[in-house]
Amino acid sequence: MTLTEWNAYVRLPLDVVRAEGDTLILRDGRRILDLYGGHCVLSLGAGDATLGATLTRQWNELAFVTNLIDHAPRHAFLRAFEANLPPGDWHVFCSNSGAEANENALKAALYATGRDTVVAFSGAFHGRTAAAAAVTDTTKKASPFTPFHVVRVPFGDVVAARAAITERVAAVILEPIQSLAGVVDPPAGFLEALREACDATGAALIFDEVQTGNGRLGTPWASQHFGVTPDFFTTAKGAAGGIPLGLTVATAAWATRVPGPLFGSTFGGGPLPLALAAEVSRAIAAPGFLDNVRAASAALCEAGLRGPVARVRGAGLLLGLELKPGLTAKPVRDALLREGVLVGTCDDPSVLRLCPALTLKPERAALLAAALDAVGGSMSSPAPRSEVSGGVRSVEVAR
Ligand SMILES: Cc1ncc(COP(=O)(O)O)c(C=O)c1O
Repeated sequence: MTLTEWNAYVRLPLDVVRAEGDTLILRDGRRILDLYGGHCVLSLGAGDATLGATLTRQWNELAFVTNLIDHAPRHAFLRAFEANLPPGDWHVFCSNSGAEANENALKAALYATGRDTVVAFSGAFHGRTAAAAAVTDTTKKASPFTPFHVVRVPFGDVVAARAAITERVAAVILEPIQSLAGVVDPPAGFLEALREACDATGAALIFDEVQTGNGRLGTPWASQHFGVTPDFFTTAKGAAGGIPLGLTVATAAWATRVPGPLFGSTFGGGPLPLALAAEVSRAIAAPGFLDNVRAASAALCEAGLRGPVARVRGAGLLLGLELKPGLTAKPVRDALLREGVLVGTCDDPSVLRLCPALTLKPERAALLAAALDAVGGSMSSPAPRSEVSGGVRSVEVAR
């Protein structure tokens, strides 16, 4: 008998044994600056002491109870999460992942409207379960079958979006800044136009804030960054700082159109994820936290514009480094890794993605600048080798 893991991921050549804050520590002691942040999950960085203490305390006190029993971390979470919301009355349902959070938002909108069509966008990524995959761009990880009609519109095309949002449409779902597509900013006026079209037709506007949320844009939520409030928003990844939690948040007006028992989850809303999510919400609300996100963003934008990079896009700590013509992301990513800096790639082969911990100190951007300078603008000569043959150069870490 054998067991092989499903062949889902191409893994990076990094033997990580520990992580601290913004740093990955390899088995041989080398340290890598992590500007990928566990793919937006490590909102407070790796090994945050408050989250660690909360996790241990909560595990010892009350690790898990059925959702049929109330518990104190739920109330602590509701009060802390509420403090960062856009104005209005909101309801939240707790599940386990981004895909599940999107499934629930779509299900609620379909149920509330009794309509059968969802508008989604080119380049979109919303997860891999059936409904989430149905609204994900079909050229990506979408399912071959969809549980409802999907009308796909080019991201940013106001005319096409207005034409698509008819009275058959239950929901319009989008990432306010598309991440996997290549950190694609919405053109000016696009989100406002979607809001207007949804208001005119009675469709629900759903922001997928799995990546843009939890403080990443320098505001708690993208709606506060862009000044457009959706009917639903969803999040996951950084919401509990490192353990699974999905959240479907709806205005009271939409939530009360749907019977509560439409939703349910065994693990979602348990004491452990909610105790951590309360801490993350409190951290986001703490004085200086979002100032740091904005300062670190400005530092990375400045540091990032050199060597192989032609332009920086995105907002806050969700940034795309657009490479000079002729360069492709994976070799540049590998060269940066040899210089001791981890960045991400995405579906656009000309873009590198940065989504570090929101606690990244602005001065750490100097390491990115040095690595980009070392890689250079042409990549025509082999990237500089680290002092350890074939490996990854160590960076000095001042924490
Ligand atoms: C924008 C967006 N939505 C949804 C998801 C799905 O989240 P999960 O992997 O937690 O199901 C992701 C995951 O990368 C995402 O980036």
